[in-house]
Amino acid sequence: MPDSRPSCDEVTMPCRAMPSRGLVGRAHVPGDKSISHRAVLTGSLCVGETRIRGLLEADDVMATVGACRQMGAWIATDGDGNWTVSGVGVGGFLEPEDILDCGNSGTGVRLLMGALATSQVTAILTGDASLRSRPMDRVVDPLAEFGARFRGRLHGRLPLTMTGAPLPIPVTYALPVPSAQVKSAILYAGLNCRGRTTVIEDAPTRDHTERMLAAFGADLSVEMDGAERQIHVRGHVEMVPQSLTVPGDISSAAFPLAAGLMTEDADIVLPGIGVNPTRTGLLTTLDEMGAGIVIENERQAGGEPVADLRVRSQDLVGVDVPPERSPTMIDEYPILAAVAACAEGDTVMRGIAELRVKECDRIAAMVEGLERCGVRITEHEDGMTVHGRGAGSVSGGAVCRTFHDHRIAMSFLCLGLAAKAPIGVDDARPIRTSFPGFIGLMESLGAEFVQAGHAEGGVTICA
Ligand code: S3P
Repeated sequence: MPDSRPSCDEVTMPCRAMPSRGLVGRAHVPGDKSISHRAVLTGSLCVGETRIRGLLEADDVMATVGACRQMGAWIATDGDGNWTVSGVGVGGFLEPEDILDCGNSGTGVRLLMGALATSQVTAILTGDASLRSRPMDRVVDPLAEFGARFRGRLHGRLPLTMTGAPLPIPVTYALPVPSAQVKSAILYAGLNCRGRTTVIEDAPTRDHTERMLAAFGADLSVEMDGAERQIHVRGHVEMVPQSLTVPGDISSAAFPLAAGLMTEDADIVLPGIGVNPTRTGLLTTLDEMGAGIVIENERQAGGEPVADLRVRSQDLVGVDVPPERSPTMIDEYPILAAVAACAEGDTVMRGIAELRVKECDRIAAMVEGLERCGVRITEHEDGMTVHGRGAGSVSGGAVCRTFHDHRIAMSFLCLGLAAKAPIGVDDARPIRTSFPGFIGLMESLGAEFVQAGHAEGGVTICA
């Protein structure tokens, strides 16, 4: 496990969660990150004005906004959550004059690479230390089949230079790993390619790209062949700008949901959360654990199903999570591991080796942190088993390393609210990646945090 200690000139924001109870109220979580990236990119590929309400204004999405602006899209906000994107049309990206910095965002960089693969430009892409360490060959390989050329580091790692195919050839590609990012990169590439591009997946991954491209008028169709899903896009069709509202992010809602379940006397309502079935694996799993989460007021927003979720404190039992469910809850395993520590019995999570190549190695990070908090956990090459001892059993009284990973930071802070003694994280700044208002929103429900050096804007920790 690489050392995550910052260097001497780096400012960090340690934060401690205090044991809390009685979390009550309505919590508005910010817009869905996956849909936000796609809304910005799709709008950038349309001529005319796309209007987006509820865009996630977090570092990850702002990096995609910055990259699209560098390639000719005009993107502005009224400061009140309403964004306008005036795009360049399919295949219309201009050559960026400088490096495209995608920050921490795997989704941002992989989707952009897709659109660039069939654009007549050369671009250099990079990101932060976490993103530079993540494998990009999973998108480079299929995009090279269109005729795009790449020069990156080992395994295609960033920084990477790419040149879009001058005469793109349509591709048929069966995904070797279930990945919505790879699927989406290929579909964005197919938009500017004569003929039909096909992606085949045998495990359904989030389908936001399919829904959005179809809503913008792309020639996209989906065929089922047994369990296999074939997604076809026919290129060279102009898309039509749309007005859309981004639903609340279920992957962010997972944190107040978990805190409500794990702490005493909680009653929390989360309005307007996206409940697309390709994203709700955590709700299914929590239901099997006895969570009794109420899903009400189901409706549609921006071509996506949305509902209000209500959660109350609950005694939970451990479960075996079926590996085939993993694509529908891939980002929720860290917080599920925290919840499992407060459940009675073992929770087995297997078939999730993908977690090792996320913003950090999330299996190793959760194993290390949970052990520090006094939880028994067994690490597997492809997962982990948490040996829970029931509500109120987690000792806490530890500081956990987040490895610059937003979801690891929020998972341990939520667990700290339910532990016997406070749980700290070495750095809460990565939370800005996906959920900038997390601390304030949790405090509005009654959670208590102590942010070290808060008044001074942070403290410097030397390695
Ligand atoms: C995402 C897909 C998932 C997920 C990521 C967002 C997306 O990654 O982990 O946070 O928006 O397409 P993979 O497609 O690599 O599994």
